[in-house]
Amino acid sequence: MENFVFQNKTKIIFGRDTENQVGEEVAAYAKKILLHYGGGSIKKSGLYDRVTASLKKAGVEYIELGGAQPNPRLSLVKQGIDICRKEGIKFILAVGGGSAIDSAKAMAVGVPYSGDVWDFYSGKGMPEKALDVATVLTIPAAGSESSPSSVITNEDGDLKRGLTTDLIRPVFSILNPVLTFTLPAYQTACGAADIMAHIMERYFTTTQCADFTDRLCEAAMKTIIHNVPTCINEPENYDARAEVMWAGCVSHNDLLGTGRNQDWSSHGIEHEISGIYDVAHGAGLAVVFPAWMKYVYKSNVNRFVQFASRVWGIDIDFHNQEKTALAGIAALEKFFISIGMPVRLKEMDVGADRLEEMADKCTGSGSWTIGGFMSLDRNAVLEILKLAV
Ligand code: NZQ
Ligand code: ZN
Repeated sequence: MENFVFQNKTKIIFGRDTENQVGEEVAAYAKKILLHYGGGSIKKSGLYDRVTASLKKAGVEYIELGGAQPNPRLSLVKQGIDICRKEGIKFILAVGGGSAIDSAKAMAVGVPYSGDVWDFYSGKGMPEKALDVATVLTIPAAGSESSPSSVITNEDGDLKRGLTTDLIRPVFSILNPVLTFTLPAYQTACGAADIMAHIMERYFTTTQCADFTDRLCEAAMKTIIHNVPTCINEPENYDARAEVMWAGCVSHNDLLGTGRNQDWSSHGIEHEISGIYDVAHGAGLAVVFPAWMKYVYKSNVNRFVQFASRVWGIDIDFHNQEKTALAGIAALEKFFISIGMPVRLKEMDVGADRLEEMADKCTGSGSWTIGGFMSLDRNAVLEILKLAV
């Protein structure tokens, strides 16, 4: 096991009706806030009414800004920054999924910064201060409800880039599984693919002897594999929704990555796809991850055998371990297909004409490599994208 520091400040408030506590929780921090949300699902479901009633009851004044799109845009972040500055707001409540939350986090670092907030995403600088952010989560997926990350798309150049700093971990997040009952099957499945990816980015490691976190990762993957089909077939099954919501949060709160090196190249490659084609992040990962696996498995067959055996229950063929490794990859693909995810780019209407551009953007035109499990240069990324066509 490698040395590590683990610190996660996000208070998780989990369970039925917990959104009604939001006003009280916010009031401990601020009396005037920005309420940020997505394209309107929270109004349709009635959540908006409950959140605003709770804020009013607690004497919290709110200015609202909706419209965060999946793959949240820089232009809306800038609007939010202007509003917070004009109104003297020091706290942002995001109600929604990873997109609304990431957009709120970007505003949080942008408000106290005199330069262009994109500097933090383009790698030109790191924030020193941030407003407080809190969330009411409506989709288990991105894990942004307790992660230190925010991913924003700059419309100028179709560039999707991330920022990671503990400053933007939410101070609290409210997770009520009932709020996920209204998720369409496709969004439930996209979320599941993203959660699986967050676990697998950590599971595929070169660190020897990380047995405890290996087994935490395996438990988390099995929880998703077991419960997501129920969420799709019985959208109002509280127990299955609750398992997925909590597993999704823990999968990206940094616990499962403690003491081990991690990969993250599938996320890097996927961000180039959703940055250009605006596809759902989880769907993009369902396509990229199996392709990545097919490219890298020979570099550490044992780890893929462990994945096949412990996660998918596949018998190990000790005479032909590669066969077992490939069976594990096939099982993952079959799972994605079974929950309605694409596993090839063409299923998302993404052609093969911009693969070179994506490989360039992902590796600075070959000036850096990506991936902790196996280091990938520009050509390797291009080969993986070709396997995904
Ligand atoms: O916008 P609304 O109307 O709310 O609709 C959303 C959106 O269309 C809908 N939805 C959410 N909750 C719902 C619901 N519809 C009905 N009922 C509900 N309860 O679902 C759609 C997707 O929402 P979005 O917020 O985009 O989903 P997700 O949570 O998957 O977030 C995706 C974004 O997060 C980034 C992704 O790259 C992508 O931009 N990520 C953020 C990370 C982080 N901050 O740590 C890590 C991830 O790896 C990821 O990159
Ligand atoms: Zn992700």
